[in-house]
Amino acid sequence: MATQQLFPTLVYTARLRFRGWRALNARLLRECRQLRADDAAGRRWSARNYPGGYTSYGSAHRMQQLSPTFAALARRLDRHVVRFTRTLQMDLSRRTLVMTDCWVNIMGRGAAHGLHLHPLATISGSYYVAAPAGAAGLKFEDPRLARFMAAPPRRSDARRANRPWVIFPVRAGALLLFESWLRHEVAPHSRAAERVSISFNYSWF
Ligand SMILES: [Fe+2]
Repeated sequence: MATQQLFPTLVYTARLRFRGWRALNARLLRECRQLRADDAAGRRWSARNYPGGYTSYGSAHRMQQLSPTFAALARRLDRHVVRFTRTLQMDLSRRTLVMTDCWVNIMGRGAAHGLHLHPLATISGSYYVAAPAGAAGLKFEDPRLARFMAAPPRRSDARRANRPWVIFPVRAGALLLFESWLRHEVAPHSRAAERVSISFNYSWF
């Protein structure tokens, strides 16, 4: 008798700790805050759609093309995305995954990010520029929940792989990658210090 695991949901985690990381991260943090100061359209968009936070999702969402600092981050991210697609065994022999979007998220106390996925993308992820201790993590939801019908709930001590959702803690320098169809959310940020992340999409079309 054997039980086999099929159709896994993979989440890629890494820490960016290359030489010069600290200086790059400090530049990114400055630019994220400067963007918020300069981006009136983004602040208006955020006031309506992201209370307590700022995101450039609706205003400056191709930062990798606007800022050499973000472009330097994107070059680092490219390598991790390639590794992840190899683990996923995606056939990219005639296709190239490229970063299509890259935007800034700054969460103040009380800001939250509701459950969502990233349409029109293949691989998505977030890089964490600043995250105070206790900052809200990234919560992923089992993509099969809608099909569970009469399935009983899982035990509270169920293995991580069997839980209906899993939260990944975040800290500065952390990178998370996932397939773009995987729904995720961020619970309300409860700390006074800001939680700053850079999110991005990669696509092959
Ligand atoms: Fe997201």
